Amino acid sequence: TITPVLLCGGNGTRLWPLSRKSYPKQFVPLTGTETLFQASARRLSGRGLGPRQRVDFAAPLTLTNTDFRFIVTEQLGLAGIDPGPVLIEPESRNTAPAILAAALHLEAHHPGAVMLVAPSDHVIPDADAFHAAVAEGLKAVAEGQIVTFGIRPTRPETGYGYLECEAGEDGAARPLARFVEKPDAATAEKMLASGHFLWNAGIFMAAAADMVAAFRAHAPGLCPPVEAALARAKTDLGFLRLDPEAWAGAEDVSIDYAVMEKAANLSVVPYEGEWSDLGGWDAVWREGGPDAAGVVTSQNATAIECRDTLLRSESERLEIVGIGLEHVIAVATRDAVLVADMRRAQDVKQAVAALKAKG
Ligand code: GDD
Ligand code: MG
Repeated sequence: TITPVLLCGGNGTRLWPLSRKSYPKQFVPLTGTETLFQASARRLSGRGLGPRQRVDFAAPLTLTNTDFRFIVTEQLGLAGIDPGPVLIEPESRNTAPAILAAALHLEAHHPGAVMLVAPSDHVIPDADAFHAAVAEGLKAVAEGQIVTFGIRPTRPETGYGYLECEAGEDGAARPLARFVEKPDAATAEKMLASGHFLWNAGIFMAAAADMVAAFRAHAPGLCPPVEAALARAKTDLGFLRLDPEAWAGAEDVSIDYAVMEKAANLSVVPYEGEWSDLGGWDAVWREGGPDAAGVVTSQNATAIECRDTLLRSESERLEIVGIGLEHVIAVATRDAVLVADMRRAQDVKQAVAALKAKG
């Protein structure tokens, strides 16, 4: 069996004002009725899947923070999924410390465990195809590899990691030559043009022991604080709360920089199914099915002669109308309105920083 490790601690500030610190995007039904978090958990649980399911999943281990702990258990419950252990990070230290904590916890409690680390804010509609890729990756995991999943790139995106690999047999796991996290625009252009790179889907699979070994080799400074935070963790209403003082000593860094750019035992399984990181409003626009003019509107939104524009109202009492707009994101909620250039979608996080600075 595989233990899904659900990462559920990011703030999703690039989707402000819909995604708020107290209720980030993975808990909001963005494109359907189910939330992204519920969909991710269900995809890794076998619930509601067809007979072609090829992999066996244990109850998930979820990593989140104090504010979201009850949202997590409530949404898992509503989706009919056994919540499994929920580890609480005293504060967000990005993905590296969180994943290390999960790996150490699994290594201690389930020797031999295989972990599948998955963000909770991705859209992967074809669970069957995804399971086939996971089954393929398991072969490499059995050989001590850390497995990544590669998406065929379609634009020089700078918000993703890039995986350099051989073309290889269709769908089979292959060695990863190089992992490049979030390149600048010129490098991204070159990598896209070379045809030798896939996007990193942000999903990692490895034996928990191999994951721990990779941290010991490439991010040794993270081990003492995270080990101490686990050793001194307190059980609280069924949650496992990591020790705040020890946790404060862990560096704030993502696993991509801390481990993946450095590790040598990496493999990649190409994934041909649909995948999207709803990482910004441009991605929500792309997922929303733009019409011939590239326009996506929600209820209570009207676009007149607009192009490549997203108009979204989150309130029945707020009508939003755009006229002659191009490359515009306009999102209105009950108490905030965002108007931005679509090409600056990744910069929306600056809005959150600017508002925070204002107090
Ligand atoms: N528990 C926890 N704690 N989860 C976290 C934390 C944290 O401190 N920080 C982030 N996460 C969660 C986010 O909620 C998200 O689900 C996932 O971890 C990845 O974090 P992001 O901040 O969304 O990373 P990214 O999108 O910039 O980059 C990663 O994903 C890309 C694909 O979506 C990298 O792995 C890239 O290489 C990759 O291409
Ligand atoms: Mg992301």
